[in-house]
Amino acid sequence: METNTPEVKKTIFSGIQPSGSLTIGNYIGALRNFTLLQDDYNCIYCVVDMHAITVRQDPAQLRRRCLEVAATYIACGLDPKKNIIYCQSHVSGHAELAWILNCFTYMGELSRMTQYKDKCARHADNINAGLFDYPVLMAADILLYQADLVPIGADQKQHLELTRNIAQRFNSIYGDVFTVPEGYFGKVGSRIMSLQEPTRKMSKSDPDECYIAILDPEDAIRRKIKRAVTDSDGEIRYDPENKPGVSNLLSIIAAMSGQEIDSVVSDLQGQGYGALKNRCTEVVLDTLLPIQAEHARLMADKGYLQSILDENAQRANHLAQKTLRKIQKKVGFAARG
Ligand code: TRP
Repeated sequence: METNTPEVKKTIFSGIQPSGSLTIGNYIGALRNFTLLQDDYNCIYCVVDMHAITVRQDPAQLRRRCLEVAATYIACGLDPKKNIIYCQSHVSGHAELAWILNCFTYMGELSRMTQYKDKCARHADNINAGLFDYPVLMAADILLYQADLVPIGADQKQHLELTRNIAQRFNSIYGDVFTVPEGYFGKVGSRIMSLQEPTRKMSKSDPDECYIAILDPEDAIRRKIKRAVTDSDGEIRYDPENKPGVSNLLSIIAAMSGQEIDSVVSDLQGQGYGALKNRCTEVVLDTLLPIQAEHARLMADKGYLQSILDENAQRANHLAQKTLRKIQKKVGFAARG
């Protein structure tokens, strides 16, 4: 028999480092798709400023970048009434749950984390306890909202696996309290590669010429695509293995125009790499210029942006408190009057 009970929406949680230069890779692989989820899921996007201070930050810059990332999310089409977009430090539950989870995480587990080992190598002068504990704070982010799905890149798989282990360990002691989250991976083929080393993923930590930031000015975008690495056989064909540079430009065009790769290729048949790059520049600008205009409008209206962040932090806090109270009770903290 049919019932009219609406299915309970699943929760998606994602954390974004406030580094300010989200790339077209982030746009194509994540942000753009998030707009398609906003009606079917409860989506929570957290600007993780507490994670950011595990390496030294300039305070004024960090403050601005947090707003910038939130504004970029909204400018890309994420409705701040449907999605919860907020700053991690505005919801104290993250730190409170992280403390509890610390007591259910082993030193050995944390010392095996490859990102921790990498960061120790890169920041040898500042190997602080926060860096070590980073994955537990990340687990707290996710478990605090009982998230079902977590969109992440391959580099965060190990952290998510640890989150699942902590959740299961806790559940095995106290009963089913935490939802054990699953990774949510974008479609393969939507991976955008470096413009200079097209066999590597596009990354904002590489030199400037390797990536296009969502907020890059028009002349920088034109220059970077013009200088993108191709090959010398001159044929426009999609073949990531043998022609990674050309294939990457084709993928960017396809992703940003919504056209199939095959039809992009046939449109450009018989033309040179100059035409390929012009087409790529055109679709990138067509996509990014309106986003940039909206971003600038939001950044100029700090009052509005602040009110959105405040309101969303309150909504997040409400959900966070629900989980936190339950967990505090489970571990035996005394009840409040
Ligand atoms: N560690 C993640 C990264 O560097 C950011 C992050 C923090 C995160 N908390 C999260 C991602 C929770 C997903 C869910 O990309």
